[in-house]
Formats: sequence, C-alpha cells, structure tokens
Amino acid sequence: MKLKVSIIGASGYTGGELLRLLLFHPNVEVNQVTSESYTGKFVYKIHPNLRKSTMLKFSSANELQPCDLLFLCLPHNRSQNKIDEFKKLAPKIIDLSADFRLKDVNEYEKWYGHKHARPDLLNDFVYGIPELHRTEMKKTNYISSAGCNATATILGLYPLYKNNLVELDRTVIEVKVGSSEGGNKGNEGSHHPERANVVRSYQPTQHRHTAEMLQELSFGQKLAIHFSATAIDMVRGLLATCHVFLKNDLQEKDIWKIYRDAYGNEPFIRIVKESEGIYRYPEPKLLIGTNYCDIGFKKDEFSNRLVVISAIDNLMKGAAGQALQAFNLMNGFDERTGLEFPGLHPI
Ligand SMILES: NC(=O)c1ccc[n+]([C@@H]2O[C@H](COP(=O)([O-])OP(=O)(O)OC[C@H]3O[C@@H](n4cnc5c(N)ncnc54)[C@H](OP(=O)(O)O)[C@@H]3O)[C@@H](O)[C@H]2O)c1
Repeated sequence: MKLKVSIIGASGYTGGELLRLLLFHPNVEVNQVTSESYTGKFVYKIHPNLRKSTMLKFSSANELQPCDLLFLCLPHNRSQNKIDEFKKLAPKIIDLSADFRLKDVNEYEKWYGHKHARPDLLNDFVYGIPELHRTEMKKTNYISSAGCNATATILGLYPLYKNNLVELDRTVIEVKVGSSEGGNKGNEGSHHPERANVVRSYQPTQHRHTAEMLQELSFGQKLAIHFSATAIDMVRGLLATCHVFLKNDLQEKDIWKIYRDAYGNEPFIRIVKESEGIYRYPEPKLLIGTNYCDIGFKKDEFSNRLVVISAIDNLMKGAAGQALQAFNLMNGFDERTGLEFPGLHPI
C-alpha cells in the first residue's frame, strides 16, 4: 500500500530532508511539494542533492490537492493560523514547527511571546518523540514533531527523570549547534564571514526549547532546567552536554543498567561510552544524515554530578528523520522503514 503524501514548505532545509527520505520510502508516493518562492521550478534546482531522484516541481500551497497525509515544514506561527485549511486537505498531519508542541497554552505566551491561535487543538497533537510516545502515535492523526535541541536533551535525560534519580532544580545543559538549525533564510549572523569559525553564545538563557524539556521531563513534579545554546562552526548536527546531580549514590554500572533498560531495544538510540579510542563519547559528525541519537555519560568521581552527552543530526533525528519515524508508527509501518542506514566515516 502506498500513501499519497505532500510537503508544505518543501524548499526549506527540513522539507528538503524529508523529501530525500520520502522519495525512497516503499509505502509513500510523494504527491505535491510546495514553495511560494519557487512555484513551478524543478525541486532539484533548490535541492541539488535530489538530481535524478525526482522530476517533481514545486506547487503553490493554493494548488494543493487532497492527499492521505500532510507534512508541514513552515516557520513557527504559520501552521496554527492555517490548520483548518490543512485539515480539509488531509486526514493526517505531521507538523515540524513548534506550533502544537506545548500542551499548556500559557507556555506559548511565556516562551514564544504571543497568544496561541488554536489552543483548542493543542491536545489533539501527540508530542513527536517516538521513544516517549510510541503508543499514542499509533492511535493519533496529528503529530507535532519535537524541537531539535529538545530532542537530544530529552532523550539524554529521560531515563534519569523518569526514574526520579536527579535533583530537580540543578540541571544545567549546554548545546552546541550547527548553522542549518536556523533554516535556509540568510541573515546578518549567517553571512559566511560572520558565521564561519564562531563559538557564539546566541541564547544563554530563555531558549524556547526549554519549554518542551520541562513538559516532557517533569512527570508531575516542579523542576528547573538551566539551558544555554552556542552556535559553532558546523553545518549539521548538535551536541548536548547535560550536567545533572544525582540524588543517590549511583555507580557507573547502575547508570549503564538504567540506560540499557530504557533504550536497549530502541532501534535509533545507541549508548556510546568507550574506554579507549578517539570516539569515546557521542560525536555529531558521525551522525550526519542518520536518524540515530547517540548518548553517553560519565560520573564525576569527586561529586554527585553526572555528565550526559547526547548527539543528533538536527535535520534528521531532530526533524525529518524523527518525523518519518513517527509517520511509520502512525500508519502501521515498521518504524525503521526508510531510515535504516548508518552514517559516513570518515566525513
Ligand atoms: N532547521 C532545523 O534544524 C529544524 C529542526 C527541527 C524543527 N525545525 C522546524 O521546522 C520548521 C521548518 O524549518 P526549516 O529549517 O526547514 O526552515 P526553512 O529552511 O526556513 O524553510 C521554511 C520554508 O517555509 C516556507 N515558508 C512559507 N511561509 C513562510 C513565511 N511566511 N516565512 C518564511 N518561510 C515561509 C519557505 O518556503 P517558500 O518561501 O519557498 O514558500 C521556507 O523554505 C520550522 O518551524 C523550524 O522551527 C527546524
């Protein structure tokens, strides 16, 4: 069975990455891909990596025909205003923006600085990390894909918070991110002479993805997460270094067991912790183009601090790959379909 699928906002980075995956998915026929800036142009002119993979042309969103499922790859605050139009076009929707990620409408005002246009729909969308919400994904028609920084951080810390093992107000997270996280629209900061070689602290506090972390890691308790983001000289990939403080005197072998119990059967999570070699901990460059999240840790011998290190490709496990994994679950396919390939080495 092939599902007819369309992508809105397909000229962008996440839309292009999703198209790269969907074109080779055995159960998908890509119906239409939209762009307002490039309507009528061949897709490969904008996504040159797709030359000879597709002869699709971009349509305008006004030309969309009904299909089985719509992926929304629009900037924040666009989907929520057009959601009724989109719902008329397809019975199932996966939104990659932040528009339906948060369950508490007040959090949108706090973190995004605006009132949400459709608070009545927030609970219809399942939050998009498959490892946490697999069961709900199998039953829903609406999924809101998670933020990339949030995905790496939540997956890294979930086993510890779920088992109530860490102090609730002392978690400090530093994420280093590549430039593709900012999308394909250039600005002063992304101009090459300004962006190359940077280690730029761009959001030391109040990063919007903190709201998702609090939502998914609180388990009904009040907690604080202290999150900072730094732009570094990389195109794809992100590395989250998470400092948590353990409530109990756990040893590394106990922590191994906690992570193995949580993720031992997960197809896209790998525990990376080697005692020798140069790749002892997660390294984003080995994940480029893949749907893996690599997680490692090290306990501080002199304190109760545990450092959890988590890496993903922001456009894959942090966006298109995660969305396709969710798509597979939503539609009853093996969740690995179209995603089972390793990264490149060397790269
Ligand atoms: N980049 C990441 O690492 C990442 C990871 C996870 C989630 N996300 C989320 O995924 C969504 C898409 O991100 P992206 O990185 O693919 O962004 P992007 O590269 O900027 O692409 C967004 C696309 O949306 C279209 N668009 C339609 N209306 C627009 C408007 N009013 N203003 C600007 N663009 C408009 C644009 O295409 P046309 O002008 O051709 O129509 C544009 O190519 C965002 O909500 C983002 O937060 C991004």
